[in-house]
Amino acid sequence: MNLDITTLRNQTPGLGTVNHLLASGSALMPQPVVDAITGHIELEARIGGYEAAAVQQQLLDGVYTSVARLLGAAPQEIALMENATAAWCQAFYSLPLNKGDRVLTCQAEYAANYVAYLQRAKRDGIVIEVIPNDETGALDVNALESMLEKPAALVSITWVPTNGGLVNPAAAVGEITRKHNVPYLLDACQAVGQMPVDVRELGCDYLTATGRKFLRGPRGTGFLYIRKELIEKTEPAMIDHFAAPWVAKDRYQLRPDARRFENWENAYALRAGLGAAVDYALDLGLESISDRAWGLANLLRAELLQIKGATLCDAGAQNCAIVSFSIDGLDPQDTVVKLRTKGICIGTSDPASTRLDAEDRGLPTILRAAPHYYNTEEDIGHLVDALKSLPRS
Ligand SMILES: Cc1ncc(COP(=O)(O)O)c(C=O)c1O
Repeated sequence: MNLDITTLRNQTPGLGTVNHLLASGSALMPQPVVDAITGHIELEARIGGYEAAAVQQQLLDGVYTSVARLLGAAPQEIALMENATAAWCQAFYSLPLNKGDRVLTCQAEYAANYVAYLQRAKRDGIVIEVIPNDETGALDVNALESMLEKPAALVSITWVPTNGGLVNPAAAVGEITRKHNVPYLLDACQAVGQMPVDVRELGCDYLTATGRKFLRGPRGTGFLYIRKELIEKTEPAMIDHFAAPWVAKDRYQLRPDARRFENWENAYALRAGLGAAVDYALDLGLESISDRAWGLANLLRAELLQIKGATLCDAGAQNCAIVSFSIDGLDPQDTVVKLRTKGICIGTSDPASTRLDAEDRGLPTILRAAPHYYNTEEDIGHLVDALKSLPRS
């Protein structure tokens, strides 16, 4: 489907103010998302928080159905969370990992996940092993296959890393983990909303993502998918009386669905916004979204290469809508601030967010831009012109 960019831009209030090219940070929300959030907040103000949740129950229950559709999952396999990290931690810390258990991760692993591995290495004695990259800079599936000749307790990787356009071969990893019967936790935080995602095709057991990035949802939202066969076998690391009703003085009973990872209290207005964002993306179609966003990112890459002293830092044979780069003589942080004064929003990626990859490739803090489908060729042109005009040191 061809996207009607003019209409989509008109439905995006932020585009009247900024040239926003950082969907991998926190994308611009479309008006229906804003309306869903403010509508619920206004209802809470008018009739009370509990009462608003009751009135909106059908809509709020529908958020699980929408997220499930987005992932090719069942609603019972979805837990709604306050961010991707909380979702990821719920999955990771529920796993009974013990001394000597091997956890295999990728070179471009995200900092929040890696420090959790380090904590469990310190606390539980797990052994962290890093799957090497292939010659393109993506996770090497052949190396993973060899590493799984010895038993492993978990394969846990990031699909699209925080620091660039790399798309790790998540489905090929799933094929291998299924063959070896090893649990597979996939951080899809930066993939969801910019490309089609299907948990059955991916073969993952757990998948986590956020609302605020390419999905265009509000900040403070995220979700966890857990494969249904695993739900009943999984005891969350922390529970409350929603996850596990207190059924007798000496007993609780875990919920039968993925919501055993949730708490009783929630930001219902943000959940309504997340649901609206997912529905908006599904209406447009994830194929159309990725065609457009990835096309704009490729245009940006081509234009950047025309700038003297510019270097692209995206690894892998296939690149998504995230573009990482440096320009000789431009300090990244300073550049972001200067561009913001011109109404152009991009960001930086610092080595501590993907330390293994950054140290391996000798990457300092770099610039990061991520166009979404609502951006235009002109938006890209304005960014490139602005970069060219900045004084170099
Ligand atoms: C790859 C990756 N995973 C996880 C996260 C964490 O997402 P959240 O901030 O919603 O917890 C991020 C955020 O930048 C990320 O880039």
